[in-house]
Amino acid sequence: MNAETLDLSRPAVFTTSDERAAAIAFFNAAYRAEESGLRQAHEMADAVAREDPDLAACLRLYGDEEGWHRSLLTQFLAWLGGSVRPMGPTTRTFYRLYARAERMESIVLVNLMFETIGSTTYRLALRRATQPAVRQMLTILTRDESFHVPLNVHFLRAAIARADGDPRRMRMRLRAIYHATFVALVASTAASRRRAKLFDRIPTRVLGRAYAEQLSRLFLDEDDLGLAPSPFLLRAFGLGRDALLRAPSPVSLDAAERAADRENVAVAAY
Ligand SMILES: [Fe+2]
Ligand SMILES: [Fe+2]
Repeated sequence: MNAETLDLSRPAVFTTSDERAAAIAFFNAAYRAEESGLRQAHEMADAVAREDPDLAACLRLYGDEEGWHRSLLTQFLAWLGGSVRPMGPTTRTFYRLYARAERMESIVLVNLMFETIGSTTYRLALRRATQPAVRQMLTILTRDESFHVPLNVHFLRAAIARADGDPRRMRMRLRAIYHATFVALVASTAASRRRAKLFDRIPTRVLGRAYAEQLSRLFLDEDDLGLAPSPFLLRAFGLGRDALLRAPSPVSLDAAERAADRENVAVAAY
């Protein structure tokens, strides 16, 4: 991590001050996601440290990577001519609710869904980004968050295996969280477009559709988790199971192995 630094030698160029403000809003949202990921990962590492030191070490490294992203984003926001800003009311409510989650499997599931929409947004933003420093920042985030998706599926399986209480109730709770978070995240694209579209130029429909596809695809192949999206949800977003299954799974062991050695990862825009 320490060997990889941002090249911010050239000044940031924006055609309007609104575009700059949108860029600052975009990367502030990224900053908050990193901060939340870092805290949750380290809290979970502490919680499992005694029973499962290997899992704890893995969670700690993962949290450290989010901390590294957070520090890169702090430099990057300054380069944009902005800074880390206090959260708006909606974002604050979202993270506050999330911070109240207590069960590890619920926390990991929500986090995994955040990682999914994060990597999706960064990859889509790469389509239009032209400034080399912006591309570098987005490429780092796309590469690492894409790896965090299968990594968190591993954490989710570990959390489910060590969960106590009635397993049937836990499955029902996870399914309810998955479906509610799915709808909330797709709905959140409207607010994010108001703030960030002038910078990332992702149309509302494209972003909403990409979130729905990626979040639906997550668990389609993972029968043991019992978290496949309901047929009703797929229909509501005009998605077909067979078409989704034709795309490679973002959470397979293959996907994880392809992403594990960051120097060999080629990040492609959608
Ligand atoms: Fe991150
Ligand atoms: Fe992440």
